[in-house]
Amino acid sequence: GDGIIKVWPPGCAMFAEYRNYADRVRRLAVREDDVWVVTYPKSGTTWMQEMVWLLVNNLDYKTARSILQTERSPYLEIGCWVTEAARTKANIGDSVREVEMLKSPRCIKTHLPLQMLPEQLWTVRPKIIYVARDAKDVAVSYYHHHRLFFGYAGSSEDFFEALLAEIVPYGSVWDHILDFWKLRHEPNVMFTTYEEMKKDLPGVVKQTADFLNCTLNSEEMKQLCDHLSFESMKNNPSVSHEIEVAKLRGMQTNINGEIQPFMRKGEVGSWKQDITPEIEKKINLYTKMKLADTDYVLPFTKENCTA
Ligand code: A3P
Repeated sequence: GDGIIKVWPPGCAMFAEYRNYADRVRRLAVREDDVWVVTYPKSGTTWMQEMVWLLVNNLDYKTARSILQTERSPYLEIGCWVTEAARTKANIGDSVREVEMLKSPRCIKTHLPLQMLPEQLWTVRPKIIYVARDAKDVAVSYYHHHRLFFGYAGSSEDFFEALLAEIVPYGSVWDHILDFWKLRHEPNVMFTTYEEMKKDLPGVVKQTADFLNCTLNSEEMKQLCDHLSFESMKNNPSVSHEIEVAKLRGMQTNINGEIQPFMRKGEVGSWKQDITPEIEKKINLYTKMKLADTDYVLPFTKENCTA
């Protein structure tokens, strides 16, 4: 039910840690003026977070460029690192504590699936922005993410099979998306996609600004879209994660071949270069099965789901 048991069987010492941590997440005090960015990993989280943080903070580019996004807009997770010892070793904090200590209005990022999110989200009802992305681009991006951050040294095929078996962190990509798709008409929920951001960034900025009750003149709109362009974000160490990656570099042994940066390609449909026809068929079938009996509209990917 809550996605924890699959990862740590109840007999493991780690299970108690996760259960305790998941309870703390569920009981987190939500604030009315919070803005939550919720995504399955690799769906354009960093991109949307940067937009949201700037809109909420009166387009303060100076702070945006000088303070890491991970500090301005922290990450609420159950964590691969929930024990104090593991956290200290990896030099990362307790994400619940970090979010609790943040000054309002808080911009909070999370990949947690709906059922693991704080209960007060549905009583306090802060603004929640959900970003979805096509599963094949997510799959490829997540594979590279595992190499970059977690020292994954297996084959891409094995990774894609794990994704289809829903045994990667945060579980099923489609279940994650569909849970929020069903909530898209809630007044405190905005649902958008990576593909929509690629097709019409000013349109999504305008939609997000309206949702957050901000107004931008045309000059401000242009400046924000420039700041959010792939090239600009790739060259901005406050959002490109190159500082975090540099810290982790020592942990990545045993990997053969090139490691791609966090700001990797930033394209729609680039999976075509990385996914074999056999895996493509499997992902199409998986997608078809998950989307059967739903009214989910695949963004620009009708041709990708013909299995
Ligand atoms: P790729 O690996 O396909 O390039 P997340 O922030 O959820 O981890 O998502 C990361 C993905 O978003 C990566 O996809 C990254 O390149 C892409 N991305 C980040 N900023 C972007 C931007 N400004 N424009 C387009 N894509 C961006």
